[in-house]
Amino acid sequence: MANKLHIIGLMSGTSVDGIDAALVEIRNQKELSLTLKAFEIFKFPKTLRQEILKAMHAKQISYQDLCGLNVKLSTCFAEAAQKLCQKAKISLKQVHLIGSHGQTIQHLPSEHATLQLGDGSTIAVQTGVTTVSDFRMADMAAQGQGAPLAPLLHFHLFKKLKQNISVLNIGGMSNLTVIPKTQKREDVYAFDTGPGNVLIDAIVQEHTHGKKHYDAGGALSKKGKIQHKLLDRWMRDPYFRKSPPKSTGREKFGLPLAKKILQQCKKLSFQDMLATVTALTAYSIADAYERFVFPKHALSEIIVGGGGAKNKMLFSLLQRLLPQVQLKRFEDYHLNSDAIEAIAFAHLAYETWLGNPGNLPKVTGATRPVVLGKISPVLR
Ligand SMILES: Nc1ncnc2c1ncn2[C@@H]1O[C@H](COP(=O)(O)OP(=O)(O)O)[C@@H](O)[C@H]1O
Ligand SMILES: [Mg+2]
Repeated sequence: MANKLHIIGLMSGTSVDGIDAALVEIRNQKELSLTLKAFEIFKFPKTLRQEILKAMHAKQISYQDLCGLNVKLSTCFAEAAQKLCQKAKISLKQVHLIGSHGQTIQHLPSEHATLQLGDGSTIAVQTGVTTVSDFRMADMAAQGQGAPLAPLLHFHLFKKLKQNISVLNIGGMSNLTVIPKTQKREDVYAFDTGPGNVLIDAIVQEHTHGKKHYDAGGALSKKGKIQHKLLDRWMRDPYFRKSPPKSTGREKFGLPLAKKILQQCKKLSFQDMLATVTALTAYSIADAYERFVFPKHALSEIIVGGGGAKNKMLFSLLQRLLPQVQLKRFEDYHLNSDAIEAIAFAHLAYETWLGNPGNLPKVTGATRPVVLGKISPVLR
């Protein structure tokens, strides 16, 4: 394989806001070097988004609907790769690999089961590019949680800082990675802290009858007052006390919980409700640092990414709860925070292609390092 490669990473997270597509140039010199060449978020058509959410939450979805959704999503992923190349003005023929995470429909770590839709063969045939997909199952087969998988990229990006630092990704769920100053891959740990934006989004969508999808900039929650009694009750959820490795998803912190919260908050104003739900994300993240990170590592900084980093209310609340650490953004390191997860799957595809392991057993709880994903090759 050439030592300068173009790899596309495709990712759609638990927020189901769209497909993140990143074109990455990877050079394998002494140190791995990754350069983002192009990035775009391709929003899902509204009806497709609803179909995905239904598949996640409906007690029963027919096999026919599930099969159909799988193919529709695969085509969306393939189109995202095509459109990204048009934007970057390169031909798909110049792309060596695609790494496609797919769309998580169910994530059941305690059963070592997970399902991401978006078929690798379909993407490979439609784009003409060898595709690596279905990254999580190999780790689960080795008794891991199958998540989080982005910490390996976080490690490569930030080990050079030679300090105890953390990366915090506030997507649909929130996860944190700790990179100790030892710069050793095996010392990295990471886990999902709990909800990110998913409950905030659900409440905004419910209140605005679907006109708004999220609390842009945190402007709506800023007008509300946190209801601490309620917040304390929500913070008693046993997930927050559970020791890592741990990962979670919409099964736990998704629409059913949002509905319960809406019931409990019936008497509150929309703004107070939103402020309290936003506080749940901030408090649960801060609690995770207090419980599981600070006793082991004093951090010099936390680099925050994911869509939640743009929620000013959430960001400033978190900084207030963690006064001993400076919160930064990926942009402070000239990195595009929206693109990080997609870059992570371009990188993981590369490692898989080389036959290298992509999981960090300490992070996922797997019994050993494993090569991740399934390779769908094409005739070149
Ligand atoms: N400008 C913004 N202000 C506040 N929140 C935002 C903004 N942009 C995105 N978000 C939040 O980020 C979410 C998407 O985050 P993302 O990192 O893509 O999560 P996922 O990986 O789950 O798809 C949106 O659903 C929304 O809640
Ligand atoms: Mg997203």
